[in-house]
Amino acid sequence: MPVYMKILSIETSCDETAVSLVEARGEYPETTFAILGNVVLSQAQLHAEYGGVFPNLAKREHSKNLAPILAEVFGQAGIAKADSPTPLTEEQTAHLKELLAREPALFEAFMEMIPQFVQPDINYIAVTAGPGLEPALWVGINFAKALSYIWNIPIIPSNHMEGHLLVSLLDEGYKKGVAHMQTVGFPLLGVLISGGHTELVLMDDIGSYKIIGATRDDAVGEAFDKVARMLDLPYPGGPHISRLAQHGAEVPGLKLPRPMIGSDDYDFSFSGIKTAVLYKTREMGELSEQDKANISLEFQNAVSEVLLKKTVRAAREFGARTIIIGGGVSANTHIRDTFKNAIEKELPDTTFFVPNHELSTDNALMIAVAAYFQALRGDATSENIVAEGNMVLS
Ligand code: KG4
Ligand code: ZN
Repeated sequence: MPVYMKILSIETSCDETAVSLVEARGEYPETTFAILGNVVLSQAQLHAEYGGVFPNLAKREHSKNLAPILAEVFGQAGIAKADSPTPLTEEQTAHLKELLAREPALFEAFMEMIPQFVQPDINYIAVTAGPGLEPALWVGINFAKALSYIWNIPIIPSNHMEGHLLVSLLDEGYKKGVAHMQTVGFPLLGVLISGGHTELVLMDDIGSYKIIGATRDDAVGEAFDKVARMLDLPYPGGPHISRLAQHGAEVPGLKLPRPMIGSDDYDFSFSGIKTAVLYKTREMGELSEQDKANISLEFQNAVSEVLLKKTVRAAREFGARTIIIGGGVSANTHIRDTFKNAIEKELPDTTFFVPNHELSTDNALMIAVAAYFQALRGDATSENIVAEGNMVLS
């Protein structure tokens, strides 16, 4: 079993186009990731007009941007262009055209840029196969297949949510280019809070996942985005709510519900909070900046209280030695601080980890991390990869 792998990873499950190139080495807990190249391009501003992610627009943007982003990552990694590149054969071109038939813009960009590079020394191409928006996922998958075909490199299909979980364990070394996986005790309780998911995941080991609770309606990030819309804040709303809440005050008449906070399962429901905000805003009429800040604060409090209560209860019941949060909403400072303080106080023997701030939201480094451990487990490569919009962590 090699304990060194160079992994090129690709993430296109939603509205970020991301590619990274890493050198991963060592079995857990002696694992390090040297980041040779890492680029994330957010389409958020383009989707803002629609108030959410518009799948066909996401697909178009990924198709246009993937090849240039890969070239940029190669540039960062010092992978040179060939002096006199060997042109692709007619057979190769025909095969690529067929592979990328549904993404003509990707085919164009691929033909223009990729053959310029010398065959890179890479062991695996990792790509997000799910969960996510299928039209968006397919772009990354087909790009991975095209690269795999011309360079003869095997592909690892990865789970986006496993990426969000494991990337939370990378230490601060990430900022200097070499991240270490931190040593944690199991069982570990993962709190996944993103735009599409809200799940409590019990881990007995890296690679062993059991979902013990999930949202029955909206994901936390989705609720943030919808509430932001009611407050006339641009998409994605999470960061705006977070910022506004800092100036908010607690107002007695402005109390939102804490749905399912006392239910004896580990499920969540956030649509009721969102609807309550809708009624409040209608009642209040024209909203001042202070009103918006107050609503943001109370909304954030309601969400974090429910999340925290169930997390602490689950951690006690399952004897979790570690708690981690992951996914886009884990960028929220209030949620990070609330969890940190409460866990220190209520679960003094449990260690708490949060992801590096920039790694909370979608990126390709997290896909490389998930893929590396998949490869170590030996269940890595696959010939016939398909997009699985509802892929479940197991
Ligand atoms: O993980 P992510 O980048 O994409 C998905 O996998 O869904 O999560 C995106 C979500 C969005 O709903 C966004 O509003 C939310 O994460 N988000 C935040 C913050 N930053 C991003 N929510 C609350 N506070 C933040 N600071
Ligand atoms: Zn995500």
